[in-house]
Amino acid sequence: MEYFHLPVLLDETIEGLCVRPDGIYLDGTLGGGGHSEQILKRLTTGKLIACDLDPAAIENAKKRLAPYLDKIIFVHDDFKNIQDHLDDMGIGELDGILFDLGVSSYQIDNGERGFSYNKDAVLDMRMNTESSLSAYDVINGYSEKALADVFFEYGEERYSRKIAASIVKEREKKPIERTLELADIIAKCYPPKERYSGGNPAKRVFQAVRIEVNGELRGLYDFLTEITLRLRKGGRICVITFHSLEDRAVKNAFVELEKSCICDKRLPVCTCNKRQEIKIITKKPIFGKVNDESNKRAESAKLRIAERI
Ligand SMILES: C[S@@+](CC[C@H](N)C(=O)[O-])C[C@H]1O[C@@H](n2cnc3c(N)ncnc32)[C@H](O)[C@@H]1O
Repeated sequence: MEYFHLPVLLDETIEGLCVRPDGIYLDGTLGGGGHSEQILKRLTTGKLIACDLDPAAIENAKKRLAPYLDKIIFVHDDFKNIQDHLDDMGIGELDGILFDLGVSSYQIDNGERGFSYNKDAVLDMRMNTESSLSAYDVINGYSEKALADVFFEYGEERYSRKIAASIVKEREKKPIERTLELADIIAKCYPPKERYSGGNPAKRVFQAVRIEVNGELRGLYDFLTEITLRLRKGGRICVITFHSLEDRAVKNAFVELEKSCICDKRLPVCTCNKRQEIKIITKKPIFGKVNDESNKRAESAKLRIAERI
């Protein structure tokens, strides 16, 4: 299947990054390379480190970004490991950082990857096709309580316990192997009246399983805090999120980094030694705009930008 992904908030993000022609940039979520391409177009002597967990994204980008291969360094890994790669490359400070979190349209639309509740496929959902934990392992291996916790915590699914109990009952008969089998079990846990009132009832559980399989929220707050500190003075970080859990991690990391002294105001001298590290550029996030069906993903997109001071 051909790799396709329409970047969201493209102009706002590139404008927000204020790309310097000689700067060193990190795109932690290369995907289809739409954002990366715009950064590369603005570089002369600068470099772009482009990272993605999905080998298909890297392979596609090598073709799409062929005119810029002298300016781009590809990294196939979880962006949470990027600091080690930067150290190995001898790169210190960064001039700009971008994360466009979540899954690409290619991953969702490519039925074989098992991300979609609309397409029949084996339960997979791994962004990194070389990693070991798949959606099949989660659905067939986790305890009922662990499943309910994942559905509730990462999907904010109100029928989490009922769905977990139903999955455990079904898998006693035979393993749950396919996406549509799982979607059907979930749908039956919803009262008929509510079943299709708020979109597909499997939406939240599929999101939750995907987040669990790919460890999407694990360590995100700490990572964002650490990588932001790698920006040079004046350097910008742009983060696009697609659900409230991710957005909360970004917002909280930025708010904490923006705080100066957090000592009790009654103390005569500061003992916390905390200093303001960034200035938040977007006091409120910039929301994605949906032009037509082709960029429906933009509906839930939020962009937050901060500058290192
Ligand atoms: C929304 S897409 C990015 C789209 C990209 N900005 C573009 O213009 O085409 C998200 C990409 O990030 C990758 N990804 C998600 N989490 C990741 C992580 N922790 N480390 C590396 N890549 C990740 C996914 O595999 C996917 O290709």
